[in-house]
Amino acid sequence: MIAVKGLSKTFHTPSGPVHALDNVAFSVKAGEVLGIYGPSGAGKTTLLRCLALLETPDSGEILFKGKNVLQVSGKDLRRLRMKIGVVFQGYNLLFSRTALRNVALPLEIQGFDKGEACALASTTLDMVGLSHRKDFMPSHLSGGEKQRVAIARALVTQPEVLILDEPTSALDRRTAESILELIQGINRRTGITVLIVTHQTELVGAICNRHIYINNGVLSEPGSCLTEELPAASGTGETI
Ligand SMILES: Nc1ncnc2c1ncn2[C@@H]1O[C@H](COP(=O)(O)OP(=O)(O)OP(=O)(O)O)[C@@H](O)[C@H]1O
Ligand SMILES: [Mg+2]
Repeated sequence: MIAVKGLSKTFHTPSGPVHALDNVAFSVKAGEVLGIYGPSGAGKTTLLRCLALLETPDSGEILFKGKNVLQVSGKDLRRLRMKIGVVFQGYNLLFSRTALRNVALPLEIQGFDKGEACALASTTLDMVGLSHRKDFMPSHLSGGEKQRVAIARALVTQPEVLILDEPTSALDRRTAESILELIQGINRRTGITVLIVTHQTELVGAICNRHIYINNGVLSEPGSCLTEELPAASGTGETI
């Protein structure tokens, strides 16, 4: 599904260059749940931002189903972005919009009319178990509920890949487990490929098929988390 080759990114800061990613290479199979582990400042978010096509690497390739996405632009890039759902570190919800309108936002940006966007958003909120909170403002939601809204917003465009940056780090253990159960359920039902950045390796590792470890922008060998089989759907047919 994804192959990353020789990915490098350096930030030029007043105090000198920061090599956030240094020749990173790995691949992800369709339907896999991949954990991306590493300490603070390791380059995890930078890697996710590159994969989500929100950051341009200095060099390297990102192949999505064999196609180098770094060479895609314009309308094709917008279409490609819809195939990759992102849950940002810290939710990134718009506080002036209800839960429903937050989830509808990616569709509105794509040009869906408001009614259609809200109908699809409502179905997706239902899927994450939050239909009873659809008219709530984010400031009136709990941390776990905000995370469910963020997950629904990432899923509303029916992506093939779901990328989550520290989805459980701000939550208590029970809420974190319920969010992980939700992610695992969606993966099993739809075959969506999932990449999860975390430093909670024990907790999150329970739903990962495999993990990679990054430190100072350098990736070490992938390791196995679980012996579990990949979901039967394996990212092929069923949509969310
Ligand atoms: N826009 C930027 N400008 C300059 N430096 C940056 C920028 N973004 C990230 N960095 C630097 O790149 C390095 C990697 O940052 P990144 O956010 O990817 O780390 P991380 O592994 O996600 O850390 P955390 O676990 O704390 O979220 C850090 O040293 C950071 O300071
Ligand atoms: Mg980060």
